[in-house]
Amino acid sequence: MKEVLDLIQKRKEEFAKLRLFEYLKDESIDPLERVAWAPCFAPFAMNFKDLNAYALRQEPTTDPIQEMINTHTYEDGQHWAWYLTDIERLNIDLSMRFTETLRFLWGDETKRTRHLCYDLFALSLSQTDPLLKLAIIESIEVTGTVALSALAKLGNDLEQLTKKHYRYLSAYHLGVETGHVQGGQSYEDTDNFLKNIQLTEQQTSKALEIVNRVFDSFTDCVKELMDYADNHSFAQPFPKIHKSEALLQTTI
Ligand SMILES: [Fe+2]
Repeated sequence: MKEVLDLIQKRKEEFAKLRLFEYLKDESIDPLERVAWAPCFAPFAMNFKDLNAYALRQEPTTDPIQEMINTHTYEDGQHWAWYLTDIERLNIDLSMRFTETLRFLWGDETKRTRHLCYDLFALSLSQTDPLLKLAIIESIEVTGTVALSALAKLGNDLEQLTKKHYRYLSAYHLGVETGHVQGGQSYEDTDNFLKNIQLTEQQTSKALEIVNRVFDSFTDCVKELMDYADNHSFAQPFPKIHKSEALLQTTI
């Protein structure tokens, strides 16, 4: 597994250079403007619950790796509720017509974020080998560590400004994401355990492919979130008129 973990670290370094992570931490920008991407993240925050429950978890199992994955899914599959809490506390829990909400969630502005969810589902459901599922989770966790350390800084700045506590955007969230599969062991024990797993040549090649696909898809999502932040403000975090709606109107 060492070769796979090495690739994850290499991809992590490239991933961490994406502009969004600098933007989230940039003290020259109002913290509220730095969170204008939050609605665009909804498909991922909510789908992650289902990914854990329906694609990564496999019960019952006698496989110790799958057992570890199952434990992990119960922790990571609950964080969507923190995202909702933060949306409420940020006062961007706006009333929208149901059709507007659907157009937004399945619209152009969120398409790469949805695509990430589809990629993760497709990858997870097509792996019967728990070691390959582990490669998916390890890649997700490392992207999470990069994003959450920037979000922890943003959460702290928001907290000072608004005098409210945040959950998804918080050091607390970063603290529960170890950067490894959370199977009930310490970070060091998990690290040693993973490094000592021996993969066959075929498993290694498949796992490397998985790592690249997960990072490519997260990269697209993060670029979309940055585009969204560039084109929306905290005062108006949802599109006024949806592109697909505009397109529909022009074709009637
Ligand atoms: Fe999380």
